[in-house]
Amino acid sequence: MLIGVPREPAGETRVAATPATVRQLMGLGYEIVVEAGAGDLSSFSDAAYVEAGARTGDADEAWGADVVLRVNGPSPEEVGIPKDGAIFVSTLAPAVNAELVDALATRKITVLAMDAVPRISRAQSLDVLSSMANIAGYRAVVETAHEFTRFFTGQVTAAGKVPPAKVLVAGAGVAGLAAIGAASSLGAIVRATDPRPEVADQVKSVGGEYLPVVVAEAAQQSSDGYAKATSDVYNEAAARLYSEQTADVDIVITTALVQGRPAPRLITAADVASMKPGSVIVDMAAGMGGNVEGSVAGEKVVTAGGVTILGYTDLAGRLPTQASQLYGTNLVNLMKLLTPGKDGHLVLDLEDEVQRGITVVRDGEKLWPPPPVKVSAAPVAAPTVQAVPKEGKKPLSAGARLSLVLAGMAAFFLINTCAPAPIPQHFTVLSLAVVIGYYVIGKVAHALHTPLMSVTNAISGVIVVGALIQIGIDHLSIQILAGIATLLAAINIFGGFAVTRRMLNMFSKGA
Ligand code: NAI
Repeated sequence: MLIGVPREPAGETRVAATPATVRQLMGLGYEIVVEAGAGDLSSFSDAAYVEAGARTGDADEAWGADVVLRVNGPSPEEVGIPKDGAIFVSTLAPAVNAELVDALATRKITVLAMDAVPRISRAQSLDVLSSMANIAGYRAVVETAHEFTRFFTGQVTAAGKVPPAKVLVAGAGVAGLAAIGAASSLGAIVRATDPRPEVADQVKSVGGEYLPVVVAEAAQQSSDGYAKATSDVYNEAAARLYSEQTADVDIVITTALVQGRPAPRLITAADVASMKPGSVIVDMAAGMGGNVEGSVAGEKVVTAGGVTILGYTDLAGRLPTQASQLYGTNLVNLMKLLTPGKDGHLVLDLEDEVQRGITVVRDGEKLWPPPPVKVSAAPVAAPTVQAVPKEGKKPLSAGARLSLVLAGMAAFFLINTCAPAPIPQHFTVLSLAVVIGYYVIGKVAHALHTPLMSVTNAISGVIVVGALIQIGIDHLSIQILAGIATLLAAINIFGGFAVTRRMLNMFSKGA
């Protein structure tokens, strides 16, 4: 099948495929035609696409392909352009673009919305909202740094001491965490709040301090992985926190969002007025109604009190090369899912909930909205009742344990007094090794199992050396035991290497 990559509408800097993703799409068996100049604003020349294996063509060729890949959905005029039977893939915001969805359903085409990917682990590699929010969160900090008239980091210079900037991030989702990471790496003191208490560790891990809003009930996540709306009790307590914080911090970045609802209003005009002149606010949700009173979507506003409020809605597009590369990679991952045979033939399986979730129209049939996802992306709640041990696996009673310990001690005493030398000495070492090994391995946290494996590998090495020395002794039972010891220790060593290699590959950046 032929994939077409048309130019984006005016004002869009991103493109749906880059030379690198073109190569990957070709690896799936597709042919690619890119509209001439489509990658200009993201710094991808036509020559680079051709070198990657695509051909360049005019708008008609790109729109006339079997599969059309775009960043933005079609304008009303463009709805009629794809050929019958074509598959159109782009962001669409189908939940708020009912008219566009209806118009698309009048055509005998299939339409997939990249921004409707359910937030479940399996679909993370296709999640355009996350990849763009990650870039936008980073860029929000860069925009702030540009407007802010001081350093982010604290310094002690010959000319005086400079305090670090204080940043508050409201909403620690994908964009919020990216903003916390970027601001803290510039040296600022970063605080963040979010109704979901489970993000506290994530905030800490990217260099921020989590500020909880203390209320009786914890916020919930819906089954699709997005936060639910907060209660009035929560909002009142949060409002107090925001009033305290805005009076103290220099920079506020708001990213609060509840899917399918207008953005919650977090920062009031009074909070903005309490900030020092020169302070900067980025309202990332300005395009969704705004978290900050006084922000204007797409605009920079400076208040009478000298506070700059940025409501830019194109933050990801302000890093067009990066954004195109990540968007293009999300599309490649989608095409991998849709091309099971790697034969350049797209197969849509509506039984798969990820594919069903993004299918807005199939061959002229409107399939929006999709049924709710069955696999929950929300973290599993801690069990409130203690698990009942399974039948047949009852823990030993205290009496049985005591008898076992006494029996072990008696056996130990008997062997040590009756057995000929050097058996007692070896037996003592073996018994100590079993006890110490049991407790050491049992108490090591899961996260430390890899270093632990290195230690057991070293011990296995010692065992192999010992067994090799013993194997030379002219005694069959010793030779058999030494052979078994060598085999088991070797399994541990090579198995350990194989597992470690697999784990390292998971983190490798590839060629
Ligand atoms: P997300 O769903 O991952 O995160 C939203 C976070 O807001 C969640 O952690 C949620 O718990 C939190 N939240 C919900 N209600 C809250 C409340 N009342 N107070 C504090 N936090 C609350 O969303 P993501 O992907 O991080 O996007 C964040 C925002 O950034 C969205 O509004 C999105 O539209 C916007 N965005 C803006 C861009 C731009 O160019 N301006 C580009 C990309 C995203």
